[in-house]
Amino acid sequence: MKHHKIAELLKTEHLLQDYTVKGWVRAFRSNRFISLNDGSTINNLQCVVDFENTPEEVLQQINVGAAISVKGTLKESEGKGQRVEIEAQEIKILGEANPEEVKKTILSPKRHTLEKLREQAHLRVRTNTFSAVMRVRSKLSFAVHQYFQQNGFNYVNTPIITGSDAEGAGEMFKVTNFNLKDTPKNEDGEIDFKKDFFGKETNLTVSGQLEAETYALGLGQVYTFGPTFRAENSNTSRHLAEFWMIEPEVAFCDLDGNMDLAEDFIKYVLNYILENCDDDLDFLENRIIQEDKSKPESERQPMKLREKLKFITENNFKRVSYTEAIDILKNSKPNKKKKFNYIIKEWGADLQSEHERFLVEKHFKCPVILFDYPANIKAFYMRLNEDEKTVRAMDILFPGIGEIVGGSQREERLEVLQQKMNELGIDEKELWWYLDTRKFGTCVHSGFGLGFERLVLFATGMTNIRDVIPYPRTPQNAEF
Ligand code: 4AD
Ligand code: MG
Repeated sequence: MKHHKIAELLKTEHLLQDYTVKGWVRAFRSNRFISLNDGSTINNLQCVVDFENTPEEVLQQINVGAAISVKGTLKESEGKGQRVEIEAQEIKILGEANPEEVKKTILSPKRHTLEKLREQAHLRVRTNTFSAVMRVRSKLSFAVHQYFQQNGFNYVNTPIITGSDAEGAGEMFKVTNFNLKDTPKNEDGEIDFKKDFFGKETNLTVSGQLEAETYALGLGQVYTFGPTFRAENSNTSRHLAEFWMIEPEVAFCDLDGNMDLAEDFIKYVLNYILENCDDDLDFLENRIIQEDKSKPESERQPMKLREKLKFITENNFKRVSYTEAIDILKNSKPNKKKKFNYIIKEWGADLQSEHERFLVEKHFKCPVILFDYPANIKAFYMRLNEDEKTVRAMDILFPGIGEIVGGSQREERLEVLQQKMNELGIDEKELWWYLDTRKFGTCVHSGFGLGFERLVLFATGMTNIRDVIPYPRTPQNAEF
């Protein structure tokens, strides 16, 4: 007999029928009530065990963490807390879990800290918090593809192994080939590890942008959605060494069009979550009640997650030039609370996260799109403005997150691009293919990159980026 998903049974109107479910035991009370979860929903199905007719050795093995199948009749539940329950006729143990061993893991039914859960990243998806986060993450991925596909974009897969540094920031992981016979040797017979991708020097990509640009100048509108890598030693709750980035690129589109696209896109995917992740949002909203140890339980408030998401989808993002932002920061008084007391002095300096947070959380109190940054703090490919000091860059800053999007109109003029590359010491020979796009039918074009994990952070109300990706890669952690 086919087995059913618990999500389906919890909603069905077809009661008093027999069903089979398979899942993992979350709790077993009074030798009678099993809470079963199969990952299809945050909610458990209560299975009522007929303990007189269940063999003793089966009863013995219904332990937290075990995989079981339950066949029985779905009925209206008499107990509180659930609409339906299954009256079990037959229980099979599919995979046992030794209670003594379980006690040592995060599967044991007590509250574990998020730090503890990170140490057992392979098991944490069996907890409510992580299953909710990962279902929302999956739905967000779907919404990303749906948005672009519905709007005439082509999905392109840009290379993971690449010879170029798209951001010119030197934050690349080198690719090493241990098949040493392919690796060139120097005059002393030593292996040239620099060139060990079959004789070439290569890295893991930091961004698919440059390749996406070449495709936009042929397919018109494209997007990437893939893993990117940064060898920056940043130990923050916002940085990963491996993260997923969404990078649309559009021909015949200027910076204003780029801002419109980014704003529309973000609103669409967050709205999709509001409409399609009800149970998980309920759970995530309430989770904070238990997490917030600063107050007694009776005073704890559920997080206003839906309100926060709704606010984003219903209000315009504030568009502010870098120069205006500097004026605002200069005129703002240093805040007594430590967070915002670092006030910027000079036009031309990069904004620190406290400046970004000040603008978003204290000053405008909404997402902010900052544009027209000083040329010398941004990447080489950005379109130089007529003032020759600023470039058509844009960053989108989000409350509680900081930068969620970085993008720009691209420098489409060959000579200007070449001059900029020369100034920065970027070898034209290495990017000959990129420069070709400016030789053959160049045009105004723009794009941006959105850090997927930062989006998931915002959508779930989680606070550490390590908790929204299955296996976080950070300077301390690549164990799994
Ligand atoms: O601002 P970034 O570096 O921009 C680019 O890579 C451009 N080539 C994108 C483009 O125009 N196609 O990165 C884009 C976004 C950031 O705004 C941030 O959300 C995310 O990627 N990001 C990271 N997320 C997690 N961990 C890191 N170490 C990240 N670095 C950037
Ligand atoms: Mg950036």
